[in-house]
Amino acid sequence: MSKKVGITDTTLRDGHQSLLATRMKIEHMLPIAEKLEEVGYHSLEVWGGATFDTCMRFLNEDPWERLRKFRKVFKKAKLQMLLRGQNLVGYKHYPDDIAELFVKKSVENGIDIFRIFDALNDPRNMEKTIEAAKKENAHVQGTLSYTISPFHEVNNFVGLGKILKEMGSDSICVKDMAGLLSPSKAYELVKRLKEEVGLPVQLHCHYTSGMASMAYLKAVEAGVDVIDCAISSLAMGTSQPATETMVAALRDTEYDTGLDLGLLSEIAEYFKEIRKEYKEFDMAGNGVDTNVLRYQIPGGMLSNFYSQLAQQNALDKLKDVLDEVPRVREDFGFPPLVTPSSQIVGSQAVLNVLVGERYKMATNEVKAYLKGAYGRPPAPINEEVRKKVIGDEEVIDFRPADLLEPGIEQARKDIAPYMEKEEDILSYAIFPNVAKPFLEKRMAEKIKVDFNIAMEGPRNGESSYHPV
Ligand code: CO
Repeated sequence: MSKKVGITDTTLRDGHQSLLATRMKIEHMLPIAEKLEEVGYHSLEVWGGATFDTCMRFLNEDPWERLRKFRKVFKKAKLQMLLRGQNLVGYKHYPDDIAELFVKKSVENGIDIFRIFDALNDPRNMEKTIEAAKKENAHVQGTLSYTISPFHEVNNFVGLGKILKEMGSDSICVKDMAGLLSPSKAYELVKRLKEEVGLPVQLHCHYTSGMASMAYLKAVEAGVDVIDCAISSLAMGTSQPATETMVAALRDTEYDTGLDLGLLSEIAEYFKEIRKEYKEFDMAGNGVDTNVLRYQIPGGMLSNFYSQLAQQNALDKLKDVLDEVPRVREDFGFPPLVTPSSQIVGSQAVLNVLVGERYKMATNEVKAYLKGAYGRPPAPINEEVRKKVIGDEEVIDFRPADLLEPGIEQARKDIAPYMEKEEDILSYAIFPNVAKPFLEKRMAEKIKVDFNIAMEGPRNGESSYHPV
């Protein structure tokens, strides 16, 4: 019996998010789309995560237009996005009406598969988006954010897998954002999820520590259904294992992916050239970072520390900060370190070291976290720390989004002068400070173009104006 393994290609989302600061432009993606489709991947991860934000913030690109363009060129391929549960594609919780409309519009514009996670593994933060995606008949992939701590045994992950199944997930993803999953743990976890949850299992590892392709092989032996890979020229380092490596490793076994190495090498060649366009953002390289094994933090966090400390002329404190991270994480109830918890823990560790007294200062995000506004952490919070930071302020223990007032109508009013489509409301509701200038600029450019046409009229052979 064939146990053919599927591959999800992450190049157009996580690949460049991990290696090129999420800067890849749509114009560098579309020319290779036809070849990517021809490969026959299980799915293509193309949207969500940090791409939504960076489109508007840095690339002057409308993230919704990007998705529409993908849907147009990918005629058969299943398109997948990464959704941060109630955080959607942002860094905080959004009200339910925004979450529902976001999912609905994502499906309308082309998303087939939603990978939904929560930084604290709190199912209540995934509830609304799972429900919304089910309502749109999309595939829901409930996600376990993998981490290591005294409170993260395989049993806990299997338990969460069962909850995600009950909530309506069609498959389960194990998301190993820091590359901490060892080959033997991968085997154990996948085997138990397959046996006890009974849904297809997909594994998403980052190569950071160098263990990921070994973890994949063991996961394949344990029955994993799909693995996430990036094309070799945008793989490894803090990105995913290389597609070609896994395809070759599994060839002529019962797990053979059936993908064409010749075609893959053409795609690799294409992205090798494209990568050169992004040199200024290309810091990570393709190497292995052993600090990750030692400190158990994702690669992105490490580079944040470098830049934060460099700004303060305090690079000599790096070691102290790295030692402080696990202590803060313990105080905060061992959250997995992924957006936004990695930023919350990381910035507090930096403050603790630079100020010289632990928790004398705290960011607003830390205060909110300790008040329960991000949800329930896996383990109890250190009450002494909590008291020092928020005093006697009330701590909530219900679903944080229940506190939020609906947001769509206000957002609709705020951007009325610039709105072209319903989706603009979402861009603004999620990132008001980024979306507003973006939408204003778009409008200004359009007025200028329309004005020019009115002045010059259509040229010979041009019957009407086609926006480019
Ligand atoms: Co990832």
